[in-house]
Amino acid sequence: MSLSASGRFITLEGGEGAGKSTQIKRLAARLQDCGIEVVLTREPGGTPGAEAIRGLLVSGDTGRWDAVTETLLHYAARREHVEKTVKPALHRGAWVISDRFADSTMAYQGYAGSVGRETVTALHRLVLGEFKPDLTLVLDLPVEIGLSRARSRMQGQAAAEDRYERMGTAFHEALRSAFHDIAAREPGRCRIIDASGDMDAVAAAIWKSVAGQFGLKP
Ligand code: TMP
Repeated sequence: MSLSASGRFITLEGGEGAGKSTQIKRLAARLQDCGIEVVLTREPGGTPGAEAIRGLLVSGDTGRWDAVTETLLHYAARREHVEKTVKPALHRGAWVISDRFADSTMAYQGYAGSVGRETVTALHRLVLGEFKPDLTLVLDLPVEIGLSRARSRMQGQAAAEDRYERMGTAFHEALRSAFHDIAAREPGRCRIIDASGDMDAVAAAIWKSVAGQFGLKP
């Protein structure tokens, strides 16, 4: 559970192009229909300082950061986000939905990158203690489909946030299996959602998981 909180903390995770942002908006609307206050946020980002760090992470050369430096930047952004946005919202009873959170660092830097799982686990404990989401939905789809969706979304954007998209198919395959492994290790918190179907089917699967986890009307 998100310790010392009265709201609920839900995170959406997955590889590139899984449709997280669309699904987050739909989930937020359904929760609001139940009379729940919802805060939508994202990582890296979610506060002005963390958004500034995001700019350093999502653009530029794929190899611009030493792997540990990159992991520390993600956790610096996360600490800001948790302390200044997530925890205050949870304390006043809001439900927070974040587009990515710590499982992304575990998957991208820990499993698929070169940092290793132990380092990410130790850093998490140092920076955030036992704080974690109440529910994590992993949107899963074949790598090629996700990358082609992500690339078409990028077209026409002025400042491309595509540093991770450019990391190559082997990296993205490793990511996909990393998210499966993360979910298998914490079945009480994580659900794998098949994101290859149409938007309505994915939204229905997400709602089923959320309603089941928190005892809401299906
Ligand atoms: P987005 O494209 O889903 O907004 O996420 C930004 C990118 O940052 C995405 O390619 C995944 C990557 N990322 C990490 O590598 N580690 C992290 O801890 C987070 C939160 C994101």
